[in-house]
Amino acid sequence: MKALVLSGGAGTRLRPITHTSAKQLVPVANKAVLFYGLESIAEAGITEVGVIVGDTAAEIQEAVGDGSKFGLEITYIPQERPLGLAHAVLIARDWLGDDDFVMYLGDNFIVGGISALVEEFRTHRPDAQILLTKVADPRAFGVAELDALGQVVGLEEKPENPKSDFALVGVYLFTPLIHEAVRAIRPSWRGELEITHAIQHLIDSRADVRCTVIKGYWKDTGNVVDMLEVNRTVLEGQDRRIDGEVDEGSEIIGRVVVEEGARVVNSRIVGPVVIGAGTVVQDSYVGPFTSVAENCRITDSELEFSIVLRDSSILGVGRIESSLIGRHVEVTPAPSVPSAHRLVLGDHSKVQIHT
Ligand code: TTP
Repeated sequence: MKALVLSGGAGTRLRPITHTSAKQLVPVANKAVLFYGLESIAEAGITEVGVIVGDTAAEIQEAVGDGSKFGLEITYIPQERPLGLAHAVLIARDWLGDDDFVMYLGDNFIVGGISALVEEFRTHRPDAQILLTKVADPRAFGVAELDALGQVVGLEEKPENPKSDFALVGVYLFTPLIHEAVRAIRPSWRGELEITHAIQHLIDSRADVRCTVIKGYWKDTGNVVDMLEVNRTVLEGQDRRIDGEVDEGSEIIGRVVVEEGARVVNSRIVGPVVIGAGTVVQDSYVGPFTSVAENCRITDSELEFSIVLRDSSILGVGRIESSLIGRHVEVTPAPSVPSAHRLVLGDHSKVQIHT
């Protein structure tokens, strides 16, 4: 069995972060989202992994390498444009050969891994198996319609009037029968070859498509709100570990990780929080569910429920909450007179200003 990991895409919902970097590499508790997925594939006993890459190919390849650090053998499969999840299967045809495979969306996060699921698929080997989870608002997802016996009878992509509240999770198990289906479908109104259409094609041709409802936690980290939520969930499960320096004037409460080479000076940190190597927190407060990556400076500020990527500085700005801050960002106070905001914002930035 192989794995096909989708790590291309446009990432429009995470702009401006995705103008300069891959969304699959945005860190959750200071580890790239994609790495959690690769680890669960390795844990499920799969070693041959094809990674679909797009515009951010170089960055993904640099971060993941040949896969040996995950115990995987990785082959990169370039996709010229993000033409859809089923298009990714289409272009991976030769590499996949006649093997069964798990398709894993590189920006999805599943607590508890996929080992049990892969095992179940191997035992029963239906033509395809999809994962479902109950969501509050299914309109933003692929949605499954189930019959009275709990069998999937239809799938719809982002429906206006969903037929159930079961959304498709970004992990799918396929036999080679899927190749016929992806060849048979046409692009949707948004110009993409939809995997939901390919699976619907299997259902219509009476193939055995099964579903498993997962009870554990799943999130698509495609937007900032979900990214912060996943960060919160991962941090909630971490243990306290102080490898860096904490001075006497500082207070560290709860499940806080201070990585080796990080320094906390005259500050209060209330976990769960992770402070990356080389980062200095001085005269500041860092509150629950915050991940600060490597080589940042947090001075004379308050930070809570946020993710800060590496090499950024937050200096003397009061309180920051529910924020995703990119790499090499500087957040500093404006001169107090005249009272005006001075901004240098990239395309698609979002800033909330107190008026
Ligand atoms: P999506 O999040 O559905 O699409 P996207 O990355 O284009 O993002 P947005 O909707 O914000 O513009 O993609 C799910 C995963 O699959 C993600 O990791 C990107 C990847 N992907 C590909 O590799 N190729 C594709 O053609 C598409 C559509 C997605």
